[in-house]
Amino acid sequence: MDLGLTGRRAIVTGGSKGIGLAVAKELASEGARVAICSRNGSELASAAEAIGNDTFHHVADVTRAGDVQAFVDAAAEALGGVDILVNNAGGAHPGNFEALTDDDWHGDLDVKLFSQIRCFRAALDHLKRSGSARVVNINAVYGKYPDPAFFATTVIRAACLNLNKVLAQEFAGEGILVNSVNIGFVDTPQWDNIHSKRAPDISKETFFARLADTEVPLRRFGTVDEVSGLVCFLAGSRASYITGAVIDVAGGMGKYV
Ligand SMILES: NC(=O)c1ccc[n+]([C@@H]2O[C@H](COP(=O)([O-])OP(=O)(O)OC[C@H]3O[C@@H](n4cnc5c(N)ncnc54)[C@H](OP(=O)(O)O)[C@@H]3O)[C@@H](O)[C@H]2O)c1
Repeated sequence: MDLGLTGRRAIVTGGSKGIGLAVAKELASEGARVAICSRNGSELASAAEAIGNDTFHHVADVTRAGDVQAFVDAAAEALGGVDILVNNAGGAHPGNFEALTDDDWHGDLDVKLFSQIRCFRAALDHLKRSGSARVVNINAVYGKYPDPAFFATTVIRAACLNLNKVLAQEFAGEGILVNSVNIGFVDTPQWDNIHSKRAPDISKETFFARLADTEVPLRRFGTVDEVSGLVCFLAGSRASYITGAVIDVAGGMGKYV
């Protein structure tokens, strides 16, 4: 299937590792020109080299409005515009209600919700000019499947899903299609941190197997390649009648319809 991505100009936040890196690689392999950002400059430069296809990279922290605007402006200049925005940067903040301080809440809101708001705002004029723009927001099953062990994620991703829907409604007339991909458990570097915080005494494999056994009907963690294909489909021309959708890549996780 030709996804219609050749020559399209794509921004992927948090493109240095994990899901963002896989998405950037697959977009580039489908012929898109790609720009990535993250906070660690050397990891970012290595990622750009691994992605190839003259990938543009720029250090930016998505919790800082100035960084976001500078990245989007520089990316738009390097690529000659922006057709695709993948809001991926983020991280897990496990913990139940009593473990979370106001600073924790503010930090998590900033990296999950406000990053998507800021990146969309910074890219908006370019997306309008594209005429057939695509925005894919990487969110979490927990936004629809509350779990006190991931308390902040549960609350904040629910807001992200509403942001996804209202952006789709407000900007459909401008040809900007906005969709969400909800992740369950996908093996990425952020899970190394969760493992070392929550279960340092057992191996990563055992930790993953226990979580997957209780939560995931397919009984395993997903891989980043199992996410990037859907993101590329939603970013491409074959998804021209899909907007405001929320699609899970979660092995069946989440007891809801
Ligand atoms: N993996 C899962 O099971 C899972 C589940 C639900 C949701 N998600 C969501 O999926 C997205 C990708 O997660 P992942 O598992 O691939 O995580 P990851 O392996 O930790 O990668 C996160 C990426 O985002 C970047 N990043 C983090 N904070 C940033 C900031 N403030 N500004 C700019 N870049 C930042 C990281 O680079 P630097 O740290 O160098 O900046 C890295 O490139 C996140 O939004 C995450 O919440 C993942």
